[in-house]
Amino acid sequence: MLLQNVALAVAGLCGLSAAASDGPQAVEKIEFTNVGFAGTYTPVVSIKNADSDDCSCSVGSKQWFYGSNAPISDAVSVHFRGPLKLNQFAFYNSSSFNLDNADNSSDWSRVAYFDASSQTAENAVFLTKAGKDSPVLGKALSFADSDGVSSSSSSQLLAEDTLITSDQEYVIYSNASCPKSGKKNSCGVYRSGIPAYHGYGGATKMFLFDFEMPTETQSNSSSFDYFDMPAIWLLNDQISRTSQYPTDANCSCWASGCGEFDIFEVMNGTEKNHLYSTFHTFQGIEDLGTGIQADGYINRDTSGSMKGGVIFDSNGNTVVFVSNSTSFDQTITPDSLNNIISRISDDESLSTKLATISASASSTTSKASDANSLFEKGTGALWFYAFTFVTSIAHTVLF
Ligand SMILES: *[C@@H]1O[C@H](CO)[C@@H](O)[C@H](O)[C@H]1NC(C)=O
Ligand SMILES: *[C@@H]1O[C@H](CO)[C@@H](O)[C@H](O)[C@H]1NC(C)=O
Ligand SMILES: *[C@@H]1O[C@H](CO)[C@@H](O)[C@H](O)[C@H]1NC(C)=O
Ligand SMILES: *[C@@H]1O[C@H](CO)[C@@H](O)[C@H](O)[C@H]1NC(C)=O
Ligand SMILES: *[C@@H]1O[C@H](CO)[C@@H](O)[C@H](O)[C@H]1NC(C)=O
Ligand SMILES: *[C@@H]1O[C@H](CO)[C@@H](O)[C@H](O)[C@H]1NC(C)=O
Ligand SMILES: *[C@@H]1O[C@H](CO)[C@@H](O)[C@H](O)[C@H]1NC(C)=O
Repeated sequence: MLLQNVALAVAGLCGLSAAASDGPQAVEKIEFTNVGFAGTYTPVVSIKNADSDDCSCSVGSKQWFYGSNAPISDAVSVHFRGPLKLNQFAFYNSSSFNLDNADNSSDWSRVAYFDASSQTAENAVFLTKAGKDSPVLGKALSFADSDGVSSSSSSQLLAEDTLITSDQEYVIYSNASCPKSGKKNSCGVYRSGIPAYHGYGGATKMFLFDFEMPTETQSNSSSFDYFDMPAIWLLNDQISRTSQYPTDANCSCWASGCGEFDIFEVMNGTEKNHLYSTFHTFQGIEDLGTGIQADGYINRDTSGSMKGGVIFDSNGNTVVFVSNSTSFDQTITPDSLNNIISRISDDESLSTKLATISASASSTTSKASDANSLFEKGTGALWFYAFTFVTSIAHTVLF
């Protein structure tokens, strides 16, 4: 099978990444290049008996994605885990943005925004897992109350200075409602009874945050899954609408690789003040759970606020950064963004090249259903033909 071939190619090049690495280092900018590949995932097409022990799900035929940043080019939801305070959040898009080539870039437009201090939200809805519980699917999404984590019957804004604690989570979706659940509808099949919204789409996109990650004040115990391990991350927007933490992998498209990108994530208690960035996609790896992690981290400031975010440019460059110069203006020019990024010195930067997967999706009957995906039409009509694997996960620390 395809993935085994990719794994072999990666195994052959392990020496390269090990040789270049002298252990993770603290930086202010984490870059991934060559992001995006042609691949498939299987969407959930049915959820039966959602609320009982007999719950079962099935997945459909392979759905294709390709191009810059794929599959993160699909719509994504934005996830937060405590200990965390969110002061501002913004989502931007641009018709073209090339890092290091401002001449060939157009402005970024803010298309979603949340500001805790003025209690303003544009095109942003707070949801949380406080709905119906299921032994297989876990808790369903509900509207989040102003504390971020209780269930509400209608959309509410997160109150100013809301601190969510270890294990607590909320998620931001756009305010565009999904049509009814269905294989052929734009949000696919989702769990019944949830407030269902679209995520934030587009290949060229940017998410900015002003946030705090103070040290947990409760004491550690085995009742925590993620004690003092805050995170901000992106998931394919279908994942939470079906199930984020299912006991049956067919209840989410995650396991088939529909996409996750961790922007700022504490990985374990030993490194509780290190924020790592990770792609959980099949771009040259077999172990999706481990994913593709940069060999360095951004320091977690436990006493002040942090500003920064992630840029996915039009050429497959992903940059996670922190900078107190980050602004949340309605329009951000390519020059002003490039200034912030280029002001970060080389010894505060890290770059990781993702594997090149040359692949072609060949079909006479498939048609593009949207900019980023092809649907399989009938068995055998669409096939994945991988002919070269130039696989290098090269960790290059820039000096
Ligand atoms: C940016 O988002 C807005 C609102 O969703 C949309 O109308 C516009 O087409 C998007 N622009 C690009 C370049 O994707
Ligand atoms: C400018 O951007 C467009 C769209 O991303 C691309 O097709 C073109 O090759 C770029 N030109 C240069 C000079 O980089
Ligand atoms: C979504 O948010 C935008 C920006 O705040 C607003 O103009 C629009 O009316 C909202 N749409 C819905 C359905 O609430
Ligand atoms: C998940 O779906 C696959 C493919 O449809 C099937 O082979 C597998 O048995 C399913 N797993 C479970 C736990 O139902
Ligand atoms: C903690 O996470 C980092 C980053 O993934 C990893 O390098 C390190 O080995 C982990 N430490 C432990 C004790 O698991
Ligand atoms: C919390 O306890 C768990 C074991 O229950 C341990 O693995 C983890 O490192 C601890 N976290 C911290 C921050 O000490
Ligand atoms: C950024 O600002 C915060 C407080 O607003 C401060 O704690 C932090 O040290 C600043 N970071 C840098 C790199 O100057």
